[in-house]
Amino acid sequence: MKGTIVPIKPEVVVKVIECGPLRIGGHVRIMFSDGSMVIKQRAFICRCGKSSNQPFCDGSHVED
Ligand code: FES
Repeated sequence: MKGTIVPIKPEVVVKVIECGPLRIGGHVRIMFSDGSMVIKQRAFICRCGKSSNQPFCDGSHVED
């Protein structure tokens, strides 16, 4: 259909939170180094390296 605009719905949206984690929205599979995996609809991935629950954010970045 010429001229038809087809909306694209992204499967995963990654939002960079200033001075905080990456917010990943959508159906995501997170694979760990030991081969285990979790499936989440939303995940907050640590960018500061301070989380004790890596790779997920535990709020420790706020203590800066
Ligand atoms: S980004 Fe939140 S603990 Fe690292």
